[in-house]
Amino acid sequence: MSKKQVDFESVLKHIYIELNKEVDRGQVASYIPELENVNPKHFGIHLRPIDDSSIGIGDFCTPFSIQSICKVLSLAHALQLLGADLWKRVGVDPTHEPFNFLSLTEKGNGIPNNPFINAGALVICDMLYSQLENPEKDFLDFVRNLSNDNSIDYDKKVYESEKTNGHRNHATASLLKSLNNLHNDVEQVLDFYYLQCSLRMSCEQLSKSFYFLMNGGKNIVGKEFLSPSQTKRLNAIMLTCGFYNDVGGFAFNVGLPAKSGVGGGIIAIHPKKYCIATWSPGLNQKGNSLLGIKALEMFTTETELSIF
Ligand code: DON
Repeated sequence: MSKKQVDFESVLKHIYIELNKEVDRGQVASYIPELENVNPKHFGIHLRPIDDSSIGIGDFCTPFSIQSICKVLSLAHALQLLGADLWKRVGVDPTHEPFNFLSLTEKGNGIPNNPFINAGALVICDMLYSQLENPEKDFLDFVRNLSNDNSIDYDKKVYESEKTNGHRNHATASLLKSLNNLHNDVEQVLDFYYLQCSLRMSCEQLSKSFYFLMNGGKNIVGKEFLSPSQTKRLNAIMLTCGFYNDVGGFAFNVGLPAKSGVGGGIIAIHPKKYCIATWSPGLNQKGNSLLGIKALEMFTTETELSIF
């Protein structure tokens, strides 16, 4: 059977119109006070097929806090700098726990299950902190180069806001330190982590930044950031760990490697075909964007373009 020709523009329009009617949009994250001020009515989608044609709908040009989506960029940079040595300090297995669960205590060896739960992301931050001369500037330069967009920046208000409330992350970092898997100062690593989480991007910028993951490691202007093999592994970790304790449900309903953030963003990748970014700030009970997941489920169903 031949694959049908897909009219992406009509599909996105249909999804947007249908979902924009939804009254229940979930709850915006309130544990970072600054995120609580975001209007829950925002909704945007941006699709970037491999040919770099670009289709957006709704609030796809409005920047928002990418939060945990930054963990993929952080991991990509650490992979660039350290290669496979990185896996000595963090695993590649999913957990059945929320993103901020103190899962280290279960294994007791200080090796977090994967780089996307907070414990794993803090270890990756620690590695980058050791490698980079000026972590704040160098990481931003990396993200700007990757996305070919110099307007991307940190949001210092969100950074400060999270810092005042980061007790659980503090506990996680201290536990890692006590188990010898954090080499730098706890406060400095946490600061760097909060900065990364505060990165602001629109759906359009997100799909641009993540182009390399559908393109074998080369970014939107053809510059190689990761090898095809490293890219394959990063997509695999997104598929198995990108949605924490909701990863099975997401694979079942959507069927794409993806990463979510509590700012309400999601980036999803179909290697060699397209990447798609959604933003709706209201979260479901597991902390992932309610409308974003519905939009992606509708998209892969209507286009028949999931990886399965
Ligand atoms: O560590 C935190 O609490 C946040 N800065 C990031 C959380 C997040 O986005 C979780 N993912 N959905």
